[in-house]
Amino acid sequence: MKFSLPALPYNDAALEPVISCETVDVHYRRHEQAYINKLNDMIAGTKYEDMSLEDVIISSSGALFNNASQSWNHIFYFNTFSPHAKHRPTGNLMKAIERHWETFENFCEIFVQTGVSLFGSGWVWLCSDDKGHLGIRALSNAGNPLIEGLTPLLTFDVWEHAYYIDYRNRCDSHLQHIWQIVDWSVVESRYKF
Ligand SMILES: [Fe+2]
Repeated sequence: MKFSLPALPYNDAALEPVISCETVDVHYRRHEQAYINKLNDMIAGTKYEDMSLEDVIISSSGALFNNASQSWNHIFYFNTFSPHAKHRPTGNLMKAIERHWETFENFCEIFVQTGVSLFGSGWVWLCSDDKGHLGIRALSNAGNPLIEGLTPLLTFDVWEHAYYIDYRNRCDSHLQHIWQIVDWSVVESRYKF
């Protein structure tokens, strides 16, 4: 299977001022396209060619894992956002968040702090296990909770390329602002409980 860059469900300027048109262009159309191009080069003529992207991630290591996982992570990340976002979760996901972190605001604060505390590049994730229990994971580089058998629900990219154009070195400010465009209806659709 040859992988391609999916179209986003909004135009490049739709997330402004939280994420600029220029950042969407550089981050998604250039960085993400480069990961996908490298992935396609690496799987050509190998057993990975006929696998889904998730199966490549689960069954690979090294440079192939890095490019496959970065490809998947960015599609997942950018598809969490909307200029018409639902700003708070409801239903079973909200109940699970409140059970674990007492309040939604407390969860948001811990999620951001976990991301800011990650040394170097990586991703902070909200995940569910197979019983619906939630957890926050900080994973370096191209880390992906799929390889631990967890279901990813939400992620923030804490590589510098995600925020340096708009926020310079202020990762914490970037992570605080992107709550404004997280569409909790998308996150809820990933939680199967
Ligand atoms: Fe990124």
